[in-house]
Amino acid sequence: MSDSLVLAATQARENAHAPFSKFRVGAAVEDETGRIHTGCNVENATYGLTVCAERVAIFKAISEGARRFTRVAVVADTGTLTPPCGACRQILWEFCGDVEVVMANLQGKTESVRLGSLFPRAFDASFL
Ligand code: THU
Repeated sequence: MSDSLVLAATQARENAHAPFSKFRVGAAVEDETGRIHTGCNVENATYGLTVCAERVAIFKAISEGARRFTRVAVVADTGTLTPPCGACRQILWEFCGDVEVVMANLQGKTESVRLGSLFPRAFDASFL
């Protein structure tokens, strides 16, 4: 696997706390300086308080002062590549806009799409 962002997301996936679903996800976001911020899904016994890997990654990045992002990677162990959930699409749109999203699995299959194609006609601050 040559893409360092996908590699970082794959490694972050190892830290997933997913005792309920057993569905482990890793994410990584690259900021404009080239720094990579990672996240994994963190589940909770109440289920609803679970936070996806993508949101963990982007919130970590924001809390470290990063503000502009160039790419996002999402890694899960699925044949059909796992895309960000609806809530994560909204959050990613807020901070990354029409960013490149790289979906990948553990077999090295990857696909890149723009967030705008996953999340058309988004509601955002431009409406406020
Ligand atoms: N999950 C993510 O972390 N990211 C996704 O893109 C899809 C879903 C997590 C949430 C939950 O812990 C588990 O996967 C099953 O939904």
